[in-house]
Amino acid sequence: MSASTLHDLIGVGFGPSNLALAIALQELSQSRGKAIDALFMDKQEHYRWHGDTLSSQSELQISFLKDLVSLRNPTSPYSFVNYLKHQGRLVDFINLGTFYPCRVEYNDYLGWVAEQFADQALYGEEVLRIEPELDNGVIHHLKLISRNAQGMERARRTRSVVISTGGSPKIPTIFAPFKDDSRVFHHSRYLTGMKNLGCGQGKPMRIAIIGSGQSAAEAFIDLNDSFPSVRAEMILRSSALKPADDSPFVNEIFAPAYTDLVFQQQPEDREKLIREYHNTNYSVVDLNLIERIYAVLYRQKITQRTRHAVRCRQQVDAAIATEQGIELTLRDLATQQRHTQRYDAVILATGYERQSHQALLAPLEGYLHGLEVDRNYRALASPALQAPVFLQGFCEATHGLSDTLLSVLPMRSEDIGRALYQALDTAIAHSETKVCALASA
Ligand SMILES: Cc1cc2nc3c(=O)[nH]c(=O)nc-3n(C[C@H](O)[C@H](O)[C@H](O)COP(=O)(O)OP(=O)(O)OC[C@H]3O[C@@H](n4cnc5c(N)ncnc54)[C@H](O)[C@@H]3O)c2cc1C
Ligand SMILES: NC(=O)c1ccc[n+]([C@@H]2O[C@H](COP(=O)([O-])OP(=O)(O)OC[C@H]3O[C@@H](n4cnc5c(N)ncnc54)[C@H](OP(=O)(O)O)[C@@H]3O)[C@@H](O)[C@H]2O)c1
Repeated sequence: MSASTLHDLIGVGFGPSNLALAIALQELSQSRGKAIDALFMDKQEHYRWHGDTLSSQSELQISFLKDLVSLRNPTSPYSFVNYLKHQGRLVDFINLGTFYPCRVEYNDYLGWVAEQFADQALYGEEVLRIEPELDNGVIHHLKLISRNAQGMERARRTRSVVISTGGSPKIPTIFAPFKDDSRVFHHSRYLTGMKNLGCGQGKPMRIAIIGSGQSAAEAFIDLNDSFPSVRAEMILRSSALKPADDSPFVNEIFAPAYTDLVFQQQPEDREKLIREYHNTNYSVVDLNLIERIYAVLYRQKITQRTRHAVRCRQQVDAAIATEQGIELTLRDLATQQRHTQRYDAVILATGYERQSHQALLAPLEGYLHGLEVDRNYRALASPALQAPVFLQGFCEATHGLSDTLLSVLPMRSEDIGRALYQALDTAIAHSETKVCALASA
């Protein structure tokens, strides 16, 4: 591939969103008799799905039937069921009697699919920015600037781009100064962070977990199960650990058809819908995990040997690093009383932000309408920007709560695939007309 190779599409990130797109594009190429030349770039050295959070007890929070493809095409060779068949585990999985495989297995499924698209994937390159290539004031092509592990920068050209870079760790301001302190780390780096602490070798440690979402709960239970020398304290602002509502009627908000319903609303009504169902996804925990945590604390009461704690209504007002540990000043939100507690380490299970597309698209800012998208996830742009830009995972405000999840990947990737084919057909027809006009001039 030469530096001037012009791709039809570059996908930024090769997580589940762009993997689903790769499958949809392959299907569309069969029905259209024409393949899109797509390249998917990922900054990781090899395929991993939230790889540093894959503790042994963690399970998928969605039915395996909502895999990369089955909702659209249950006969696809890329289904989770076909993966199980190829691994020789289909019967055993059925015997498990669950819809929720462990995340270690789902990571393996995604890696198995990614392997089949290896010729379209490029790992170990972080895309830094997406620049316009101006041709008489019009942008038909984009230039993606990326950096590899050795720090070398390089440009690649494309007719279109799909940004699917996922969430970025949310670090509360109080903990920003701890960027280089290995005793404080976000849950997205859980396994590596724990390896660096030394409690794997039995060193006694008191560890604070900030947050009350699924990540915090999974960290708590893993510290209990895998690190017998650790005392874990979950520190939450809310008054209790609350369950994720995944009851059947509520779950209908994650149905593909619901995307239309949300998109058709006025902005304030969309916002209301998202707020109403916030407790399906954010700051909530699977009920069975809450019950496990409660049981752990209850057993402590029987033995009267207190190891762990769940501290509700606690706001972290200050954090100070000392040689002995990290001192947190906690304020009880009911009584306003403060007390300081020292921990050997702090895990920030403080959630994710969805902003990475903004920095990538900064050079195109003048052509984009505030990163708003149409129903097919194409960024609204001024007529000068002919090269289409699509966003996956950054459209919760317009497309609903399923946007950051696995729920509608098969449908979303088909929507984008179709819109992409249409946009590229138009662009190619336009450039052919231009060439003919030049030839006859
Ligand atoms: C721990 C955890 C567990 C989850 N479990 C579930 C679940 O069970 N069910 C569910 O529905 N949702 C779950 N989610 C939500 C999650 O967002 C989706 O599962 C899914 O990962 C979204 O896929 P994605 O491809 O959009 O983003 P991601 O999976 O985040 O993938 C983004 C990819 O882009 C790459 N990347 C980022 N920036 C760049 C760049 N600048 N250049 C190149 N590559 C880049 C990253 O390396 C990554 O591989 C979970 C989230 C977390 C954090
Ligand atoms: N097994 C799985 O499938 C699995 C595992 C992990 C995560 N996930 C998914 O990943 C997504 C994110 O989950 P998550 O648990 O990482 O994040 P989350 O649900 O957004 O929860 C973040 C938590 O951090 C707290 N927090 C944020 N800022 C804070 C601050 N400044 N001070 C104190 N607390 C603060 C929040 O508290 P408040 O509530 O007070 O704001 C909240 O409890 C969800 O979709 C989840 O389902 C799935």
